[in-house]
Amino acid sequence: MTSPEPGKAAALVIGAGGGLGAALVEALAAPGPHAMDSVLALGRATQPAIDYEDEASLANAAAWVAAQCAAQGAQLRLLIVASGFLHGSQGQPERSLSHLDADYLSHVFRINAIGPALVMKHFLPLLPRQGRCVAGFVSAKVGSIGDNALGGWYGYRASKAALNQFVKTASIELKRRNPEALCVALHPGTVDTALSQPFAKTGLKVRPAREAATDLLGVLAALTPTHSGALVDYQGQTLPW
Ligand SMILES: NC(=O)c1ccc[n+]([C@@H]2O[C@H](COP(=O)([O-])OP(=O)(O)OC[C@H]3O[C@@H](n4cnc5c(N)ncnc54)[C@H](OP(=O)(O)O)[C@@H]3O)[C@@H](O)[C@H]2O)c1
Repeated sequence: MTSPEPGKAAALVIGAGGGLGAALVEALAAPGPHAMDSVLALGRATQPAIDYEDEASLANAAAWVAAQCAAQGAQLRLLIVASGFLHGSQGQPERSLSHLDADYLSHVFRINAIGPALVMKHFLPLLPRQGRCVAGFVSAKVGSIGDNALGGWYGYRASKAALNQFVKTASIELKRRNPEALCVALHPGTVDTALSQPFAKTGLKVRPAREAATDLLGVLAALTPTHSGALVDYQGQTLPW
């Protein structure tokens, strides 16, 4: 997203160590239509680190981002949150009610909904009060209640639906602060990353992370303030809640 605003424009990607997050950082840092003056990348392995299990890490990282922008004379015009959890040592997505597990549910809500909500708390105040700026939270189409025809994946679906509600609610508060600020939920499509790998099926359109990243950046660049609060897919279509 090239900012039409005067001054330098900074972008921040949170979840930069993930498949999609790393591709977003690469696309924003490379010369081209999505190049930003400054690209900051944070995740559990960066310094400072961001870990959703520890809110203090978010407060600390937000202070660092504010200091970086001030030192560079840049304004934070783009924030992308590319973190997420579907499967891992904390459990697997459920195929039936009998698989529901409180520890898995707690973890999937922590990473997919509560963590991004705390990002909103600590980082949305860093967006400028004037001019266009965009906060995109990577969600998933399976979080759409209106689109749920298949069932299953209770925790992941419900946590992404919760994220979508956080996005919608934050978009209303953000608009009062800056009418040109956008806050959206994003569906990246099925992307070839560690998150999707065990579920890749023949016939399902799986796209490389690099392609998904440039698609999302193109979509974000084309959004207008009327899109704020929406769930938008990688083709720019608004999806049902
Ligand atoms: N891949 C797909 O097909 C697909 C489809 C629909 C939606 N999505 C969504 O796309 C987003 C990116 O996923 P991906 O495919 O790139 O998966 P991935 O490669 O597994 O990346 C997962 C990301 O989540 C972050 N994360 C995990 N636990 C965390 C914690 N405790 N604190 C902070 N961050 C944590 C990781 O951050 P660090 O490693 O940087 O710490 C990493 O960036 C997710 O929101 C996912 O739900 C993906």
